[in-house]
Amino acid sequence: MSSKNKNDREELLRRNYAEIAQLAGGLAHEIRNPLSTISLNLGVLSEDLEDGDTPRDLRMKRRIEIISRECDHLEQILSDFLRFTTGMELETQLCDLSQLVGSFIESQRLEADARQIEISPHLAPDLPRVHLDPHQFRQVLLNLTLNAMQAMPEGGVLEFQTFLQANEVVLQIIDNGDGISKPAQKKIFDLFYSSKPEGSGLGLPTVRKIIEAHHGSIQCESEPGRGTKFTVFLPITLDSQEK
Ligand SMILES: Nc1ncnc2c1ncn2[C@@H]1O[C@H](COP(=O)(O)OP(=O)(O)O)[C@@H](O)[C@H]1O
Ligand SMILES: [Mg+2]
Repeated sequence: MSSKNKNDREELLRRNYAEIAQLAGGLAHEIRNPLSTISLNLGVLSEDLEDGDTPRDLRMKRRIEIISRECDHLEQILSDFLRFTTGMELETQLCDLSQLVGSFIESQRLEADARQIEISPHLAPDLPRVHLDPHQFRQVLLNLTLNAMQAMPEGGVLEFQTFLQANEVVLQIIDNGDGISKPAQKKIFDLFYSSKPEGSGLGLPTVRKIIEAHHGSIQCESEPGRGTKFTVFLPITLDSQEK
């Protein structure tokens, strides 16, 4: 194939993808509005029933609870989905990864305490800075941390490490939770793959998409029953050492 044909074809694919992503995003928005009306009205219904204690009232309350929970689940899927389809326009700046991870960890202390999870940070000082969109990267940290916490329902240790390796800055998030079976490890980055009843299966695809937009990569190692380690590699560039 000539390089012009190849470029035309790539451009066409890109446009098709953008169109499908826009359509899917639009659809998610359209579903979200009536869904929030349904949720609001369910809230009002359950308030109306608050004092009722006949068997019929109790049955209705239970059903309203189930419908509300399903609405919340749908809302979660839609917001994860919208985050995934939203275009990846990065607003990068030169960032110190250890500082970013350090302040993220502080924001997670309460949640970790509540889940009896001990956070153990090993953050290298003076790392070369990397081009990061802090807002998008926070989403990466959030999704990986939430998964790790969910994998340790009885509590555990969550380790954050940053270090320099060759020409990359590396972040590792290590938990001693449930782990992932070998066959499941092949699927965890697939869209909509989830082993959780309330999962959207969009957390890791979003993580990978954001990291790849930063020209980085992500790897997972896991041992069922022992825990899981996610490693994120971010390239350092010529201007990384500039102060
Ligand atoms: N730290 C982890 N420990 C164990 N399993 C994990 C971990 N992170 C991800 N997984 C597995 O990968 C699946 C996909 O994760 P994700 O894309 O975030 O979707 P979700 O969290 O909605 O299920 C999870 O359902 C879980 O099976
Ligand atoms: Mg998740």
